[in-house]
Amino acid sequence: MSATVAAARPAVIETRALGKVYSPGTQAEVVALRGVDLRIARGDFVAIMGPSGSGKSTLMNLVGCLDTASSGSYECDGIDVSTLDAEELATLRRDKIGFVFQGFNLLPRMSAVDNVAMPLGYARVPVAERHERARQALAAVGLAERGGHLPSELSGGQQQRVAIARALINQPPILLADEPTGALDSKTGEEILALFKRLRDADHTVVLITHDPEVAAHADRTYVMHDGELHEQERT
Ligand SMILES: Nc1ncnc2c1ncn2[C@@H]1O[C@H](COP(=O)(O)OP(=O)(O)OP(=O)(O)O)[C@@H](O)[C@H]1O
Ligand SMILES: [Mg+2]
Repeated sequence: MSATVAAARPAVIETRALGKVYSPGTQAEVVALRGVDLRIARGDFVAIMGPSGSGKSTLMNLVGCLDTASSGSYECDGIDVSTLDAEELATLRRDKIGFVFQGFNLLPRMSAVDNVAMPLGYARVPVAERHERARQALAAVGLAERGGHLPSELSGGQQQRVAIARALINQPPILLADEPTGALDSKTGEEILALFKRLRDADHTVVLITHDPEVAAHADRTYVMHDGELHEQERT
């Protein structure tokens, strides 16, 4: 997909001059993001690379509405997040964004199905429907047979797929993944990347943070962060 074609489709993630300063005005002040302009459309699969401390997770936290910017603006699926209160932000996060983290963050005493059903909330959705939707999400990541297993009874790649199923349970348009293959061997990592490509083809937006250029090469385009600044990487 060329950049011109991508620009013609509506953005689901659009930041303008986004900035983040931690502990402003103190000795501990850190300028973590500087003037970040990022535009990602539905059906895009992009990678973000950059050295440790360059601001990748900071950007992910802002894009995922887990934290607020110090300057600039962010529109998530057309909504200016600065206009939302905490409750509205939580709703936006639930409906629009799925997170996958490096450490899986599965609850060890809960089965795969119950882990996946977590974001549905206990009050909102009846138990039978929660389980049915969780089973469907597990089937979508190729784990239909493993719903009753505890995380400790699953391989690393299977645990990561449970975490991805959990991130997708509310069918959010945006999937944010911070080093999702970092803890996996290369074959299992390839499976996760193939899954991301299927999601992209199903019109999800996938944003993947990685240290690994071979992993980034699977994405449609790559951005590189340096000292809080974001630039698109030229493909040869
Ligand atoms: N909560 C915080 N308070 C103060 N400074 C922070 C906080 N979180 C991150 N930083 C600083 O902001 C900068 C960017 O951090 P960030 O976590 O975004 O880097 P990163 O690119 O994700 O690095 P890594 O590859 O190691 O995960 C770093 O200098 C970090 O020390
Ligand atoms: Mg990080």
